[in-house]
Amino acid sequence: MDRVIQQAEHPLRGAVTIPGDKSISHRAVLFASIADGTSVIRGFLRGEDCLSTIRCMRALGVEIEETENEIMVHGRGVHGLKEPEALLDVGNSGTTIRLLSGILAGQPFGTALAGDDSIAKRPMRRVTGPLKMMNAAIDGRDHGQFTPLWIRGGSLQGVHFFSPVASAQVKSAVLLAGLYAAGTTTVTEPDISRDHTERMMDTFGVTVARSGRSVSIDGGQELRAAEVEVPGDISSAAFMLTAGALVSGSEVTAANTGMNPTRTGVVDVLQRMGADLTVENERMLGGEPAADLRIRAGRLKAVEISGSDIPRLIDEIPVLALAATQAEGTTRIKDAAELKVKETNRIDTVVNQLNKLGASCEATEDGMVIHGPTPLSGAEVESFHDHRIGMTMILAGLIADGEVTVKDTEAVNVSYPGFFEHLSFLQSSSQAQ
Ligand code: S3P
Repeated sequence: MDRVIQQAEHPLRGAVTIPGDKSISHRAVLFASIADGTSVIRGFLRGEDCLSTIRCMRALGVEIEETENEIMVHGRGVHGLKEPEALLDVGNSGTTIRLLSGILAGQPFGTALAGDDSIAKRPMRRVTGPLKMMNAAIDGRDHGQFTPLWIRGGSLQGVHFFSPVASAQVKSAVLLAGLYAAGTTTVTEPDISRDHTERMMDTFGVTVARSGRSVSIDGGQELRAAEVEVPGDISSAAFMLTAGALVSGSEVTAANTGMNPTRTGVVDVLQRMGADLTVENERMLGGEPAADLRIRAGRLKAVEISGSDIPRLIDEIPVLALAATQAEGTTRIKDAAELKVKETNRIDTVVNQLNKLGASCEATEDGMVIHGPTPLSGAEVESFHDHRIGMTMILAGLIADGEVTVKDTEAVNVSYPGFFEHLSFLQSSSQAQ
């Protein structure tokens, strides 16, 4: 569905409760499925990606009940999954296929996995490689690089895997396989990626040992059912915060936002850009820090985003690039080649679509350069069915002079159902005042 976005006539005002964290929601369902007993998940993100995880776990024999406020997962224990009757469809979800591959590597049956056109282009050898090293029979197109994947697990052997990329999906797949492996499995990363798996292992009673950039797990541990409270997704909050920073006169609160330190790069960068962003009501929610984030619109300045910033904000780069078009000076984003293998090649999609609106961005080998501030003007732009590109373009429409038509906006439901409702609420709140 295409949407025509008009420039915001009024400031955005008010507080929205950010929907559940996508990474944590996936992990809660996956871990609960292989735990002993019934787990209850509250604040679960009912986005398309996490629903793909539920669908796959049901196909593997797990009974999952959904009510308005809770997901109840009747775990089958570490060895209780059943061979599925058909190919598992992961939809658009890289997290589902990569983490689930780790679990399937430990199962004594065969499973085939595939997803949509975007999944078919995403690199899988980063996961199939280490799982093969652990002794799983796993393959895919181009020697295990692309879907469909075929996995027959078995007697796995613990390994020490040095991952060439800082990827939580790779780390998590190997650690999950490590639960089924003889001995100890260790993953060492070049930079620390998000640590939701490690925290969730704790919640489900599994011991993981962390030391610097390494995480280890001993095979043979069992998971105990748990209650999981999912905080809001900081990657979704990033859109409301950027909207609040860019639409003149706005004051927006993103309530209930997860503040895991491996994810808060967007807060640091917005503050470095000079945004008036405050962190309020800091608390713990289900083993993860959370807070309410309040932002007021104001002038932004260009910054460099590179090095260990990158894994802490990789999914927020599209929307930060939009913010950079309105910042004074030249923003340089480096060390972010991973953007090329996300739902789309996000270096190209961000640069090309922002430039259509009058921005001045250049793609580089491992990031982009954005000269600001540039006024944006109306045009037709693509989302390429990438949720974060779609949402970035919709926000661009709020500040562009003239109508911005964004193609295929239903992709937003992958991670942020309620996105349009939140934006209209923030727009109507200021009119009501
Ligand atoms: C995720 C890890 C990141 C992130 C993705 C979710 C996860 O991917 O971009 O949206 O839940 O583990 P990589 O592991 O490829 O960096």
